[in-house]
Amino acid sequence: MSGFKVAVAGATGNVGREMLAILAERRFPVSEVVALASSRSVGKEVSFGERTIRCRALEHYDFSDTDFCLMSAGGAVSREWSPKIGARGCVVIDNSSAWRMDPDVPLIVPEVNAEAAKGFGKKNIIANPNCSTAQLVVALKPLHDAAIIKRVVVATYQSVSGAGKDAMDELFSQTRSVFVSDPIEPKKFPKRIAFNVIPHIDVFMDDGSTKEEWKMVAETKKILDPKIKLTATCVRVPVFISHSEAVNIEFEKPISADEARDVLSKAPGCLVVDRREPGGYVTPHEAAGEDATFISRIREDPTIENGLNLWVVSDNLRKGAALNAVQIAEVLSNRGWLQPKLNAA
Ligand SMILES: NC(=O)c1ccc[n+]([C@@H]2O[C@H](COP(=O)([O-])OP(=O)(O)OC[C@H]3O[C@@H](n4cnc5c(N)ncnc54)[C@H](OP(=O)(O)O)[C@@H]3O)[C@@H](O)[C@H]2O)c1
Repeated sequence: MSGFKVAVAGATGNVGREMLAILAERRFPVSEVVALASSRSVGKEVSFGERTIRCRALEHYDFSDTDFCLMSAGGAVSREWSPKIGARGCVVIDNSSAWRMDPDVPLIVPEVNAEAAKGFGKKNIIANPNCSTAQLVVALKPLHDAAIIKRVVVATYQSVSGAGKDAMDELFSQTRSVFVSDPIEPKKFPKRIAFNVIPHIDVFMDDGSTKEEWKMVAETKKILDPKIKLTATCVRVPVFISHSEAVNIEFEKPISADEARDVLSKAPGCLVVDRREPGGYVTPHEAAGEDATFISRIREDPTIENGLNLWVVSDNLRKGAALNAVQIAEVLSNRGWLQPKLNAA
């Protein structure tokens, strides 16, 4: 049968489950799908479209006849396993931060730099950016093409699903504890997340920024343009799914809000919802389960020359992770850059 043999590593997790759903939804051409997780999850059932499949242990799986490994099992697992999997001729599309800045690993958002994925063969690894970067560059790319971006100032409002399934459970249980007056003990997050916001995601760097903020700077430069200056403040908010971003952009050339609205409404992956009335914008609740990067509140910033403000919202588990990974596999398949091994045999 024609199609790719695809392994999903981290299949029991937030991103892995979404990867399986998206492979089925988009009818990615598969001959077989294999669900992999830790040895703790062997035999556990996960859904692939109408079917259920049982998880196998990543550490005992032989990748030699598998074409793609969509990897979402965390940085430590990826650092150990991705090179070994790549060496077996299986292309790893990795969701962790382990390989993103490796010069031999393309960092890809298909709407922005699909062509760069062609260089995947050096290590057989392609990296997915951080969720907050993915949706940002989808919105920035068409504007950069139109008026050249000089500088971006962004504040994020990131949902708890970005920190994994245990983090979602923590928001749920803390919210319940508030209502029944139980004591609250933060575990995944450094402070209480229920009815609160936390201006700290990932570890602190020497300059006082956090690693999440640094990732947005470095990844935007690698994917879009090294000349773009960017400064970010990343904040965790008590929302289950979808990240939101308040974005201020300074351009080299003049661009009006109307021109930006027009450019963005024609751009791949973007959906403009921008009516200047109550409810005429997108919130994270409405973006959950959707594929688009939603753009609202497009307006000129009169305090700088050639400035615009935007509100950008997207489902972090989809465009921020699983959907982007499947779209990368589609690029390799549609452009004929990878053939199924079983067909070639
Ligand atoms: N959530 C997001 O928005 C997002 C966005 C971009 C990137 N990412 C990245 O995607 C990765 C997964 O995130 P997530 O939110 O899906 O986390 P998660 O819900 O905590 O799931 C983690 C997955 O990794 C598996 N795993 C853990 N240790 C393993 C091992 N030793 N061998 C094999 N599998 C192992 C787990 O399997 P068990 O159930 O067997 O433990 C589970 O399937 C992370 O690197 C994260 O940074 C996440």
